[in-house]
Amino acid sequence: MRVLVTGGAGYIGSHTLLELMAQGHEVCVLDNYSNAVPEVLTRVRALSNGAIMDFAGDVRDPAMLDQVMQAFQPEAVIHFAGLKAVGESTEKPLYYYDVNVGGTLALLHAMERAGCKRLIFSSSATVYGEPVYLPYDEAHPTNPTSVYGQSKLMAERILTDWAAAFPDRTAVLLRYFNPVGAHASAQIGEDPKDIPNNLMPFIAQVAVGKRDFLQIFGDDYDTPDGTGQRDYIHVVDLARAHVAAVTYAEGATGARPFNIGTGQSYSVRDMVAAFERACGKPIPTKQAPRRAGDIAAMQADASRAAAELNWAASHDLDDMTASTWAWQSKNPDGYKGA
Ligand code: NAD
Ligand code: UD1
Repeated sequence: MRVLVTGGAGYIGSHTLLELMAQGHEVCVLDNYSNAVPEVLTRVRALSNGAIMDFAGDVRDPAMLDQVMQAFQPEAVIHFAGLKAVGESTEKPLYYYDVNVGGTLALLHAMERAGCKRLIFSSSATVYGEPVYLPYDEAHPTNPTSVYGQSKLMAERILTDWAAAFPDRTAVLLRYFNPVGAHASAQIGEDPKDIPNNLMPFIAQVAVGKRDFLQIFGDDYDTPDGTGQRDYIHVVDLARAHVAAVTYAEGATGARPFNIGTGQSYSVRDMVAAFERACGKPIPTKQAPRRAGDIAAMQADASRAAAELNWAASHDLDDMTASTWAWQSKNPDGYKGA
């Protein structure tokens, strides 16, 4: 299929391009490079057959979208382009709603003008909010606690209403758990612009000597070792879930949410220990208070994705840490070192 990938130069998008092309799909990227650099696509081309059409532009720009639709005529769109920093979303709510909700709306309008009927959306487990029960299944109540989470849930709502209004539209809502890891080539990976907000890139920067120690946010949670537990998923497994979603979208209509996780969870201390195994050196840590807004534990029930998308994660924790370390140690300054 011809698949337009918005935000395709980003962390998850770049890995997804490779998996799509490996399965014979044609791809086109629209990215405004607000959180990526063009070097990403240079590397993705070098790792593949190189056939990637790309446009530098904003997903909220109708004229740009029309230009892309006309040139590429996508049969499906994967919509990664968006903002993802939870803390920043609280400080800049209008900006987050504009990009994450307004961007999705602008894209849907352009798809309607172009006759494109299938959209795969980057949602997040954060739409569930404080767990009523675990593991979360897709029927768990949605009650996001941040502007970021609200923006994802609003976009899901719009997509659900869009798919309900027409008999032949498909919206696949992928609720990601915690993506980590990097491509086996160590050529592409996660490259945070500022101080990493998330655990794995922070540990990786400590390991490579860019930061002195990791702060462990909270050791008094109701978990076996007191630190927060998450369902970490290898980014290549996540990328493959998008390929599975494209196949699913060929044969299904309507809107459907899917949890994309492994169904297993690990604590902060588990992650530190696994990273120490991968890099062969100790990761200095300091105990710190709980981070505001954090929950104790979360975990996916990913059985719907297994049954309906025919997808399951295949990489384990050591694959996640080893690939992160390979990427970080070969690219200590991320893409800036290129
Ligand atoms: P990322 O920032 O690496 O990728 C997003 C890409 O979109 C970047 O290349 C950025 O330049 C581009 N972009 C941003 N705003 C744009 C705009 N207005 N127009 C065009 N391009 C724009 O992030 P990622 O980790 O790859 O995440 C991709 C998507 O998945 C996001 O929507 C994010 O909210 C969602 N998600 C991410 C995580 C995670 O932990 N990484 C978890 C759940 C959901
Ligand atoms: C965070 C976001 C969530 C988003 C997800 C994307 C918040 C409150 N939540 O989730 O909305 O979908 O990223 O992956 O920001 N930790 C430390 N030290 C650190 C960093 C993290 O101890 O320096 C701990 C956290 O307290 C948590 C675990 O590591 O227990 C994972 O944190 P993180 O990687 O930020 O992910 P989430 O909190 O799940």
